[in-house]
Amino acid sequence: MAETNSRPIRLDALAYGGDYNPDQWTEEVWLEDARLMREAGVNMVSLPMFSWPQLETAPGQWNFLWLDRVIEILWAEGIRIDLSTATATPPSWLVRAHPEMLPQNADGITLEFGSRQAYCPSAPVWRENVARMARVMAERYGAHPALAMWHVSNEYGDHIARCWCPASAAHFRQWLKARYGTLAGLNEAWGTTVWGQAYFDWAHIETPRVASGPINPTQLLDFERFSSDALLELFQLEVDVLREVTPNVAVTTNFMSLFRELDYWDFAAIEDVVTDDAYPDPADPLSHIPAALNYSLMRALKGGAPWLLLEQAPGAVSWRDVNVPKAPGQMRIMSLHAIAHGSDGVMFFQWRQAKFGPEKFHSAMLGHRGEKSLSYQETKAFGAELTKLEPVRGTRVRASVGLVVDWDSWWASSATESLPSQRLNWLDQTRAWHRGLFALGQTVDPVRATGPFDGYDVLVVPNLYALVDDQAAALREFVAAGGRLVFGPFSGVVDHTEKVHSGGAPGPLRDVLGVEVDNPWPISDGERGAILLRGTEFGTGVWSEWVETQAGTEIVGEYLTGELAGRPAVTRNEYGDGSAWYVSAVLEEAGLQAILREVLAEAGLRAREAVDLDLEIVTRTDGDTDFVFVLNHGRRDIAVDIAAGALDLLTGDVVDENLTLPRFGAAVLQQPTGSRMPMPAR
Ligand code: GLA
Ligand code: GLA
Repeated sequence: MAETNSRPIRLDALAYGGDYNPDQWTEEVWLEDARLMREAGVNMVSLPMFSWPQLETAPGQWNFLWLDRVIEILWAEGIRIDLSTATATPPSWLVRAHPEMLPQNADGITLEFGSRQAYCPSAPVWRENVARMARVMAERYGAHPALAMWHVSNEYGDHIARCWCPASAAHFRQWLKARYGTLAGLNEAWGTTVWGQAYFDWAHIETPRVASGPINPTQLLDFERFSSDALLELFQLEVDVLREVTPNVAVTTNFMSLFRELDYWDFAAIEDVVTDDAYPDPADPLSHIPAALNYSLMRALKGGAPWLLLEQAPGAVSWRDVNVPKAPGQMRIMSLHAIAHGSDGVMFFQWRQAKFGPEKFHSAMLGHRGEKSLSYQETKAFGAELTKLEPVRGTRVRASVGLVVDWDSWWASSATESLPSQRLNWLDQTRAWHRGLFALGQTVDPVRATGPFDGYDVLVVPNLYALVDDQAAALREFVAAGGRLVFGPFSGVVDHTEKVHSGGAPGPLRDVLGVEVDNPWPISDGERGAILLRGTEFGTGVWSEWVETQAGTEIVGEYLTGELAGRPAVTRNEYGDGSAWYVSAVLEEAGLQAILREVLAEAGLRAREAVDLDLEIVTRTDGDTDFVFVLNHGRRDIAVDIAAGALDLLTGDVVDENLTLPRFGAAVLQQPTGSRMPMPAR
């Protein structure tokens, strides 16, 4: 389903720039900044993220002159503004006047002012003030020609994603009333006959604060959903005001990649453009693989529409234990990576490196040494290079494999401690399956469990612990119509109120997958096992299951070790025109690859023969012309065979058919759609 960005960013080029915090500097510096920005190819900056206290120094006492001046200086250089409503953090006067708006943790401890995001998302006074601030900003700057889009808040949930205070409890009760209608409905949904949990008055329901023992899992799951929704409501409040005052201006809020705490499918649905902040660790030589998944999610959140990498570090961050800078050339390849996956530009945190505060050791486009700084030299060079990629703007990434990402299952399988094993981790499993596909050269689109799945030949479901009827119906239809479905373990176990599906997992998809799980059989810490798959042995750990097959289900792999030795481990069932695979074990990488290889072959998709995790090939296309990004994420040369006559946008030259990419090297090949795809050289 090809969604478009209904209100696009007002920018006629790939975006380039960063967060800018002018209130940490003087006017003299602003003037220098604007000049250096232009010289570096900057065409948009994000501001003033944390400046509410500088704009409203006391209730109703406004000071906009400095911001007017900053915008004027930038606009004089043609630089547009991703304008923040400055609601990322409250002013101290607001907090002190309304101390009840401070968040509380699960122990009931109030979290003090002194950092950022010092607010409870549900606090009525905060919500009123946020809407008020958005209106003031929209009325003052909504018609400014420099306004490129609205940037609401900043990284919702980065610090405060969950709040257990009394205002949150009141809001939680409202949310529960809307969901269940009656107390009887809530008691049924929460299964409160267990452990004497019945409620007789809405007022008696609390957020799941630290309790005497393990907490009701459905209460925990609903609290996850509620907390995501509470921030979504906060976002919606501002979106409503902005749409009312400036109906034609795009709205975004910056995401944090594959972030557990917020259901980004919901957030993306109410914004115009998806933006992301991404900080792959430059010290991890394989961090580009989870980054590829994150970027893929960003384009998938709006059905493939272009998105924007709004923040990345030019070099080091300042929030890891050890903050290794990006090596020369590494920022460039990481930037090209985001563009390859559909980002229409790249932006940084931040423009000018801070002299004080918690982020003074965080890299910036303009480092402490100013124009001479390595980061300025590198970001300026990349700003010039970026203009060569203009032809890719607006094009879409091609993918044939879908990967189901479902926040309910993520939350349900991690909110409670009462599980067969704490070691089966939703994110690890999702990343492992994605990595298997990456290794085989596949570009993957995350999808909702309810679809739409059109355009995908293969669908991988790493984990769908909580499976409900509409999801099962969509997945069934996909297989019936000829799709190849792969299901990971501990899927289809419960419904959306955490009630176990009678008859065993995978619940409503037992007949499609052709299996019934009698029992999970987790593997003790440190213990390894093995399965035999089509005659080859592969390692397992963490998890296995006692699986019973139905008539006609093919046993593709069986357990070799432990109590389950000889029993089915991996199965395949033909259903309708397609096939459905069930993988009951957590497999080591080679095993996942072996399964995926067979599934891809069955679907007629070409898997890469020799695995090279440093090499990634991603295609953006407008339907007639392909832009094939060939990326060497590693530090050794990689040789690639390419089609004759392809033009490399980065060099402007027709490329030799035997292309060698040096360390962190890249080519962006322009070739007619349908041309031969690049392949690792033999
Ligand atoms: C204890 C409790 C039971 C039950 C079991 C579970 O024995 O008394 O209520 O929770 O543990 O193992
Ligand atoms: C996040 C925030 C920024 C900044 C960076 C530092 O992305 O949005 O304000 O703190 O982290 O990496």
